[in-house]
Amino acid sequence: MTPKTEMFFSTPGKRGDSGKEFRISATSVSRGEALALYDLVKQSAGPDAMEIGLAIGGSAVAIAEALDHKGGDGLLVTLDPFQPTVFQNIWTTHACSRSL
Ligand SMILES: C[S@@+](CC[C@H](N)C(=O)[O-])C[C@H]1O[C@@H](n2cnc3c(N)ncnc32)[C@H](O)[C@@H]1O
Repeated sequence: MTPKTEMFFSTPGKRGDSGKEFRISATSVSRGEALALYDLVKQSAGPDAMEIGLAIGGSAVAIAEALDHKGGDGLLVTLDPFQPTVFQNIWTTHACSRSL
């Protein structure tokens, strides 16, 4: 069960700080790719993950949920220099607020 990933993909548009809408389909992995990523991370031996390229957070939500389900204190570090500008801090608004 991946309720947080499913919730993320059930709303195709996300709004940034200024109200601008971002469509998941424009930048994100697909729902199917995110679920495959979830499986991959959940089966991996390492406790933590690092991602290059956060964008709206479609892959990050799946990685974070997999780390959570592994039951440890896994940490996801995800980098994107365009998060505060192009993406208007959308990750902070839509993912961190959901305890990811
Ligand atoms: C295809 S999108 C990533 C999609 C994201 N992984 C997802 O599934 O929602 C590529 C991202 O890489 C970011 N990016 C570009 N140059 C970068 C760099 N030098 N370091 C980290 N991220 C970078 C872009 O801002 C963009 O958000």
